[in-house]
Amino acid sequence: MSRKILCIGAGYVGGPTMAMIAARCPDYQVTVVDINAARIKAWQSDRLPIYEPGLLELVRAARGRNLFFSTDVAAQIAANDIIFVSVNTPTKTYGQGAGKAADLQYWEKTAREILAHAKTDKIVVEKSTLPVRTAYAMARILNTGEKDVHFEVLSNPEFLAEGTAVKDLERPDRVLIGGRDNDRGRQAVQALVDIYAHWVPRERILTTNVWSSELSKLAANALLAQRVSSVNSLSALCEATEADIAEVTRAVGMDSRIGSRFLQASVGFGGSCFQKDILNLVYLCEHYGLPEVAAYWEQVIKINEYQQDRFVRNMIARMFNTLSGKRIAVFGFAFKAHTGDTRESPAIRVCRRLAEERAEVVVTDPQALGNAAHDLEGLPGIVLEPDPYRAAAGAHALAILTEWPEYRTLDFARIHAGMAKPPFLFDGRNLLDHQALYDLGFNVFSIGRAPRSHV
Ligand SMILES: NC(=O)c1ccc[n+]([C@@H]2O[C@H](COP(=O)([O-])OP(=O)(O)OC[C@H]3O[C@@H](n4cnc5c(N)ncnc54)[C@H](O)[C@@H]3O)[C@@H](O)[C@H]2O)c1
Repeated sequence: MSRKILCIGAGYVGGPTMAMIAARCPDYQVTVVDINAARIKAWQSDRLPIYEPGLLELVRAARGRNLFFSTDVAAQIAANDIIFVSVNTPTKTYGQGAGKAADLQYWEKTAREILAHAKTDKIVVEKSTLPVRTAYAMARILNTGEKDVHFEVLSNPEFLAEGTAVKDLERPDRVLIGGRDNDRGRQAVQALVDIYAHWVPRERILTTNVWSSELSKLAANALLAQRVSSVNSLSALCEATEADIAEVTRAVGMDSRIGSRFLQASVGFGGSCFQKDILNLVYLCEHYGLPEVAAYWEQVIKINEYQQDRFVRNMIARMFNTLSGKRIAVFGFAFKAHTGDTRESPAIRVCRRLAEERAEVVVTDPQALGNAAHDLEGLPGIVLEPDPYRAAAGAHALAILTEWPEYRTLDFARIHAGMAKPPFLFDGRNLLDHQALYDLGFNVFSIGRAPRSHV
């Protein structure tokens, strides 16, 4: 079997995934292509287009040896036999299914490009997250019979999480490969198993039918997001009843049937995947005539929006019902720590609401200010400030929106001294030591816990 791999789409998934394959499979040649020339240039440099702990070292280990980046999509399709497709599949913003269905235009363009430039048989691997039965559409577009070339479509969804992508790729909980149950399908599945088996224990490589594989990715994200919304809904009840969400989640998390991970109350989940994949699931349920199932999953998103709005409503209420002209320092803009990615970050919605209240919003973040500038473009009263101390100087309130560990070790006595009084702190990630901050003179409000306030 050929040892030449191509990946179309050099984003958060394509780049790290292919870097790991190249690093662990020196006997394969891996090329990553993208239509975005600036992105490809960045992958060829030491200023990678995305921030991910350990990624630069991984890329450097293989780049130029058996890992290459290129913009020549057509030539690379012709030259490689196993083609991963890792293009973006955002929520559709227009026409039928707007706001819910996956926008498959990039996906279909890629399929047509593969068809146009392939001269030999190809294995096409869906790496992007897709609606169930997309492989069927893909195979229909590819195998039109116009060419004497066969395309075998596999599903191989990616489960890496941003911020821990390298670790997740190195030691995945499982690798999932969906293929057809016939000779060609089994052969293609085996070709993909052979790649991952270079470093993933065989018992962690699952092979299923294509539809189970496609649906498992949507199901995993829906279940993870549901845990966040479940905890966040309970955090509202904690605030009303003087129960403490940290104590509640500790108690329920020790139940081995529930488990302790992903039970952290917060201002809400973000990221490019959870919302879009649940909406995609909702759309599929509606399409297949299952409105009750659709409504059940849609509620996970509604609670997420409620939690973000509740956070801002609380800020307004606590700060004497007006934020107008007040300086609010937003600590953290990325949707979670250890990434510069801000797609669907709760900070976007929170900053918009704060700007609507005519606050002066100063945003600081160690990795995400470039993306923040784009997300907040045109909003009045927004300032971006890399230094957290300067961001906090003169502020009436701090709002912690990303759980960057470095925020824990800031000199809060110094920050307190420079703030307008009385100083407010809203911890949207329950990240900091609230009692210590209260003792310093802060009025501290967190998620699902009793306020510690002097006013
Ligand atoms: N980001 C994550 O954490 C994550 C995790 C698992 C799965 N996924 C899924 O993986 C897919 C990719 O996500 P991402 O975050 O890497 O997206 P991304 O936007 O970072 O990257 C996609 C890349 O594809 C390129 N592209 C689009 N059309 C192209 C074409 N016709 N030819 C060549 N390149 C093209 C874009 O220029 C872009 O650089 C999505 O379906 C997503 O749901 C993402």
